Amino acid sequence: MIGVFDSGYGGLSVFKELLLLFPEYSFMYLGDNARAPYGSRSPEIVTEYTRESIEWLFGNGAEIVILACNTASGEALSNLSRFLKEKFPKKVVLGVIEPVARFVSENVPREEKIAVIGTISTIRSGKYREALQKYGFTNVIERPTPLLAPLVETGDVTGPMAEHMVAGALSPLTREGISTVILGCTHYYFLRNTIEKLYPHLKLIDAPEAFPIFFREFLVKQLDRTVRLKKGDAPRFYTTDEEDAFARFVERTLGLSIAPKRVKLS
Ligand code: DGL
Repeated sequence: MIGVFDSGYGGLSVFKELLLLFPEYSFMYLGDNARAPYGSRSPEIVTEYTRESIEWLFGNGAEIVILACNTASGEALSNLSRFLKEKFPKKVVLGVIEPVARFVSENVPREEKIAVIGTISTIRSGKYREALQKYGFTNVIERPTPLLAPLVETGDVTGPMAEHMVAGALSPLTREGISTVILGCTHYYFLRNTIEKLYPHLKLIDAPEAFPIFFREFLVKQLDRTVRLKKGDAPRFYTTDEEDAFARFVERTLGLSIAPKRVKLS
């Protein structure tokens, strides 16, 4: 079983792609909606919440956990690496930042000016800058856009309010001559239509596009593990908040009719 985690709805963007591209595997999704958003919290709290979520997923059948959350990938993953090695030596936790940076390195010329937008926490972690520098990108602007993830959690991802908030976040950047924007928060996938409507000339790159490419390579290298992963059960959905609201969001944005279960993490 492959466990996919996000603070709330954002990781569903990655989950949807994984379900489409890897139908032979069994997946479970955990959204910590009750405590979302994570992105404006301290590094200690993001790390603690992420640890609880990973432990829950491993305790409930996951062999691999994908942090489909840039905030958790950026702020918590390296803090947790020792703990994870000691407590779950045979299991794997993957983040989304390195796969996105690698995708950028394969698709964007080095001299291009790139912007990264994400939560306060993701930008504070500096992990995108680090990863992009490693691939030779030096012309990188990073901006926290902390109002966008909470906007997505409300479900209002199109219309005048969404456009107003997206313009507030992106207009200053577009005046700085950027052509590529990394949507460094999985929640922002749900604003793509609004962003594309307002800024049709921008190239957008995000984890739902980049992560599955990395994951396919990962699975090829981890064949013994994937043998155990193959099951093909129906995907399971878990949330720490109201099931009905979660089901409505999934129905409205992804067109899937699901019956999520509510769980407690701490
Ligand atoms: N979806 C998340 C991310 O990719 C987190 C948003 C939040 O909880 O603030 O960063």
